[in-house]
Amino acid sequence: MTPWIPDFAPRIPGLTVERLQAWLPTIITVAVVLVAVVVALVVTSRLLRRVAPRTHWYLIGFPLLRLRMRHSWRHLCLNADLTGTDRPTTGQLGPLLVKGRPIMPVLPLLTRIRPRSFGATAVILLHPGQVPEPFVNAAEAMAHAWQVHAVRVDARLRGRVRLTILTADPLTSPRAGAGGGAWTIEPPQRSAAVASDPQDAITKSVTAAVAVPADLAAEVGHREDGQRWAIDLATFPHWLITGATQSGKSTLINAAVARWASRPVALVGIDCKGGMELAPHAPRLSALATDRAEAADILAELVAETQRRMRLCRQHGARNIWQLPEPVRPVPVIVVVDELAELYLVASRADKDEALRATTHLLRLAQLGAALGVHVIVAGQRVGSDLGPGVTALRAQLAGRICLQVNDPETADMTLGDLYPDAVEAAQQIDPAVKGVAVTTAEHSGWIRARSVYLPPEHLAAVIAGTAHLAPVLPGLTPPERRE
Ligand SMILES: Nc1ncnc2c1ncn2[C@@H]1O[C@H](COP(=O)(O)OP(=O)(O)OP(=O)(O)O)[C@@H](O)[C@H]1O
Ligand SMILES: [Mg+2]
Repeated sequence: MTPWIPDFAPRIPGLTVERLQAWLPTIITVAVVLVAVVVALVVTSRLLRRVAPRTHWYLIGFPLLRLRMRHSWRHLCLNADLTGTDRPTTGQLGPLLVKGRPIMPVLPLLTRIRPRSFGATAVILLHPGQVPEPFVNAAEAMAHAWQVHAVRVDARLRGRVRLTILTADPLTSPRAGAGGGAWTIEPPQRSAAVASDPQDAITKSVTAAVAVPADLAAEVGHREDGQRWAIDLATFPHWLITGATQSGKSTLINAAVARWASRPVALVGIDCKGGMELAPHAPRLSALATDRAEAADILAELVAETQRRMRLCRQHGARNIWQLPEPVRPVPVIVVVDELAELYLVASRADKDEALRATTHLLRLAQLGAALGVHVIVAGQRVGSDLGPGVTALRAQLAGRICLQVNDPETADMTLGDLYPDAVEAAQQIDPAVKGVAVTTAEHSGWIRARSVYLPPEHLAAVIAGTAHLAPVLPGLTPPERRE
């Protein structure tokens, strides 16, 4: 029986009904095999994704992303105004000079698309005359076009922008926030001098073991680009940490203190919430203030210490303590203030004088301390001028910024807006359900999202107990463990 072929079916030269009948079994077999191969590929891909996500990414995910990027690049550039031109955009029409958009735009070159464990990186080569701003603004459009979690645009290089493409939010994975098990007590790098006799304190403080600036980077978690996140006092001498209640400020401070604890540094705590937050650090602290009066006294002693250090630098013709000869170089001091508002907010006139004394000394420390090895880490829920006079002056000294989840846009703006306006929106988008996620300053320019590690209390206690003997005695200050 000859199969019915409709009249309107396209005529293929040489194709007869007999031949079609002869090829039919082969055609059906090929179709079945193709479908089977596709199904097998899909199933294998899903299985591979579950059991070996990294292999899946390199073998399947990344090549597909690369295809998507290449395929959508032209449309993306045209729609997001990323094109350049090699022709003049003005021309003469009769007696008129007209200006317009180029009809034949030139696409910037998307190149060096490389797979990474977190997604991919790529470089865009700009045409002469192109500026990076439109690329920074198009980050969201790129993420949509390429169906990825986010695209970060680094515009610091001349003539090119670097893209970091994140396929998923690495900070929301359970691994990112945990990490307690990966923490080990670092062996003390060098024993800091411990002065048992307060008379000896000044000498001991200046002859205590030396920390080069590199010792002052405390790893506190992971950045979204897969690198380790460090609060580095060599990059930014003072830091501001803001976040709503329960956003992870104290957890972050715990992680940093646990790192610094094994280094030759003096740690001073100012915790006017009655010492609730910093009490676990007490054995390793060189001083702890649990109310504002104590804070004012401790900060006054530290200001006096910076003046002593200034004199020492003058005597040796040094411009900072790192230029001093090793035997006389004083130990770095890190002052941690947990909840800044407790220093500023006043209820009575007596409170006002005390608050003014404490906050003026804190501001002076921040202004003078950087070159003298005195560093300030300030945490608080808000840092606006509503707290009192001098807050904005203090904030201006705290160049390192960390903004955890906040409840109001003003706090994000106050923390990041003056330095990195484009980071404010990223800070506002932090999910309150994922604790410890922050937008932080990175190196000398730029910002990045990161997540702190959660250090279980018993682990922190072990680190503090193991390093308590390293707490130096500072002039005029009594370590909390030695108080009656
Ligand atoms: N990086 C993190 N990973 C997992 N959980 C975290 C992380 N950071 C904080 N948390 C959780 O959030 C809780 C609150 O954190 P934390 O006490 O540090 O907040 P806070 O900002 O200091 O709050 P407050 O302003 O009330 O003092 C912690 O008990 C911890 O369970
Ligand atoms: Mg806290």
